[in-house]
Amino acid sequence: MHELTPKEIVEALDRHIVGQHDAKRAVAIAIRNRWRRQQLPEELRKDVTPKNIIMIGPTGVGKTEIARRLAALVRAPFVKVEATKYTEVGYHGRDVESMIRDLVEASIRLIRDEERKRVETVALEKANNRLLDLLLPRNQAEETEESTSVETVGGTNPAEQQLLQSERNRRVRQKLKEKLEAGELEDRIVSLKVEQKLVPVQIFSNMGMENMDVDLQNMFEKIMPKDSKSREMKVKDARRILVEQEADNLIDKEALNEKAVQLAEESGIIFLDELDKICGPQSSSGPDVSRQGVQRDLLPVVEGTTVQTRYGSVRTEHVLFIAAGAFHVSKPSDLMPELQGRFPIRVELADLGREDFVRILKEPKHSLIRQYTELLATEGLRVDITADAIEALAELAHRVNRTTQNIGARRLHTLLEKLLEQPSFDASERKGESLTLDAAYVHDHLDKITSDEDLSRFIL
Ligand SMILES: Nc1ncnc2c1ncn2[C@@H]1O[C@H](COP(=O)(O)OP(=O)(O)OP(=O)(O)O)[C@@H](O)[C@H]1O
Ligand SMILES: [Mg+2]
Repeated sequence: MHELTPKEIVEALDRHIVGQHDAKRAVAIAIRNRWRRQQLPEELRKDVTPKNIIMIGPTGVGKTEIARRLAALVRAPFVKVEATKYTEVGYHGRDVESMIRDLVEASIRLIRDEERKRVETVALEKANNRLLDLLLPRNQAEETEESTSVETVGGTNPAEQQLLQSERNRRVRQKLKEKLEAGELEDRIVSLKVEQKLVPVQIFSNMGMENMDVDLQNMFEKIMPKDSKSREMKVKDARRILVEQEADNLIDKEALNEKAVQLAEESGIIFLDELDKICGPQSSSGPDVSRQGVQRDLLPVVEGTTVQTRYGSVRTEHVLFIAAGAFHVSKPSDLMPELQGRFPIRVELADLGREDFVRILKEPKHSLIRQYTELLATEGLRVDITADAIEALAELAHRVNRTTQNIGARRLHTLLEKLLEQPSFDASERKGESLTLDAAYVHDHLDKITSDEDLSRFIL
């Protein structure tokens, strides 16, 4: 697979995110360094640990967005977690090690998809064969009727008769196979045995039992009776299930687990959002005790420790952590010193202004303007938002952000939603119409709200 260079990563991110060049560069370098490390000789490779990143920036400027896009871009197990979700060991809630378990799950999914692709053609062939078995009995029944009539006419001996019969079956199967391959039987109904797992997966993670060393869940899956039910379904649906079953049979589970654990260890990326929410001035009472505790629990995970998972133990020292936070109230220096040191790269994301908003509205591949116009187009209502309307919107967003709360690009969502409220409501009755929204329309609809500070506090 082609490994992206930093430049390519930044370019790919540019398609969706406006500006924030420093942050894009930092993550691109970090990702590329994973690849570079893989090229090193074994003994050196061990010592090269990733340089973790903290992205600092006000709310709504693209921190999470960068992580989201990055995840889609690279072939690496990736999880995005909120630091606020975790609690100190011993408290009720998720312990930080569970993020490593999530990472391994992501890795398993990734590898399993790859393996499935690898065995796809073989699995498909096997599945089609099984489909033939399921389709045949009915046809063979017809065939027997025919053969009894043949017997009365021909009067050949039983051995020959049997030979004839099997030859005939072969031909019927062949014909059916051709039809199946031509896609003529897709809507035929077959009955298929489907296994249903009865283990309530979620209960375990909610009870905090997931951190037990013993793989309880697997044990349960083995003990519980598998409920296999016969279900009637169309050939095309049955094929999907059969391909999956056959693929799973072809894949070596042990090897898959091993590969997945290794991939998670070597290339895993954990995006740790809302890091600022777990730090704050030290205090000895209230929830802070737990926050400090979470930080303390994070230390070994970030530094490198071994976490038990249901797929085996996972070493974490080469997992890349990208943390993000607004750090409005607290500063990175409010983190425990040990934790600060483990995030050596800091990048700041810039506050967004008028010009950025114009670009955010227009440039990204799936820009907000495009999203809204396409949504309304599904109703047959053509909406054209002019360039000066976009300028006006950006200006308003900037102004409201300055006068009330600065919520970054999210302000564009609230403004656009308000602006398009009427067309959104009655688009279904306006098929075939077209609507041009210009700056005057924007001012007409939004000026009254945006100029009144109290009003905008509530509405926008
Ligand atoms: N630079 C940008 N370019 C394009 N879209 C952006 C940009 N910044 C933010 N957005 C849009 O604004 C919304 C919020 O952005 P995002 O979720 O990245 O905020 P954040 O920085 O993670 O904020 P928070 O600190 O509140 O989590 C998203 O829908 C995103 O598409
Ligand atoms: Mg965010």
